[in-house]
Amino acid sequence: MKKVIDWIDERIPMTATYNKHVGQYPTPKNFNFWYFFGSLALLVLVNQILTGIWLTMNYVPSAEGAFASVEYIMRDVEYGWLLRYMHSTGASAFFVVIYLHMFRGVLYGSYQKPRELLWIFGMLIFLVLMAEAFMGYLLPWGQMSYWGAQVIISLFGAIPVIGDDLTLWIRGDYVVSGATLNRFFALHVIALPLVLVVLVFLHIIALHEVGSNNPDGIEIKKNKGPDGWPVDGIPFHPYYTVKDIFGTAAFLIVFCYVLFFMPEGGGYFLEPPNFEAANPLKTPEHIAPVWYFTPFYAILRAVPDKLFGVIGMGAAIVVLFFLPWLDRCKVKSVRYRSLVHKLNIAQFVVCFVALGVLGALPAGPVETNLARLFSLGYFGFFVLLFVYSKNEKCKPVPERVTG
Ligand code: HEM
Repeated sequence: MKKVIDWIDERIPMTATYNKHVGQYPTPKNFNFWYFFGSLALLVLVNQILTGIWLTMNYVPSAEGAFASVEYIMRDVEYGWLLRYMHSTGASAFFVVIYLHMFRGVLYGSYQKPRELLWIFGMLIFLVLMAEAFMGYLLPWGQMSYWGAQVIISLFGAIPVIGDDLTLWIRGDYVVSGATLNRFFALHVIALPLVLVVLVFLHIIALHEVGSNNPDGIEIKKNKGPDGWPVDGIPFHPYYTVKDIFGTAAFLIVFCYVLFFMPEGGGYFLEPPNFEAANPLKTPEHIAPVWYFTPFYAILRAVPDKLFGVIGMGAAIVVLFFLPWLDRCKVKSVRYRSLVHKLNIAQFVVCFVALGVLGALPAGPVETNLARLFSLGYFGFFVLLFVYSKNEKCKPVPERVTG
């Protein structure tokens, strides 16, 4: 075995790379629950890619064949139902994991210097993931697939001057059609997954260059022992491989429960109108995007003007890219930050969840007004953060990580 390893090591740095990134990677010793979600995101990404490849073996990417091929996968392909549910439930699981992963970054200030680029790569992943999910949703060619795509693509029409040409270019037709389905298929199955994998690679490289943050927001690299090893660091393997196996097992229990007992997720993971084939002549009564887009959809609908609605929705995502520069506080972790900051994060969570609920409901006058209020809270988070973080009164940050 050693001879084989030596033979490989003389040709590519396998052992050195393993040691640098896993075996000897110094990791803060105080990781908690919130640090499960990076490895879980990797797990879900692999699940999506593998189940996606097998689904593609029987899926037919045409307006005539798509809906029936999904039915065929569900009924006739051996374990096709399992593959499809793993993929559809996996999409929702991806967003649950990613939202929690991002929220951890907010809690512990992981976006702050020197991790700005790591955060930017994360945000790019988030953008591509949204595009990936949106395009995948058209593929079953159900009623919600069709009309959801119709609504979202038509938003580009609000852009002055180029809007109409742009929608035509995206759809490849005057309405959502087989041409749209074909290009979404190509992007969903190969182009975007490729981009995602590259971005995840860069994300991890950026992380390992600067090192992980931790719940105390202390830079463990700044306090090294005589052996050059950070005094608050432990090797990733075996400590965090074991921890991540535990997290994976816990995640799989929940995931399998949903997969086998409620794969439609109460109509939120797979929506009832999508069990009906796309019909360009029949608009569903209520069109709503899948749950993970609803907070942004609620912001879109909260603004009376279409163009400004689109700008508002875009701004809600773009502003997150700037978080590292909007937060001017030197202290990272919420543990040592002011009460104002804690309350600001809490109100942000309330607004985000409330917008998510409102985005899934039909927009009556009460819902619209509430969505306006919570949109203010959403953007207010960033404005307030920028204002108070400059001279924020924080608690002293300890020298060494705590429990
Ligand atoms: C496919 C999606 C993603 C994968 C596979 C992924 C993977 C990872 C992994 C394995 C880690 C190290 C373990 C951990 O800290 O939990 C990590 C850390 C991090 N990720 Fe991601 N990530 C993804 C998306 C994102 C997104 C969307 C953001 C934010 C916009 C983000 C921001 C961060 C930050 C700031 C860290 C460092 C956290 C710290 O050290 O405290 N990631 N990511």
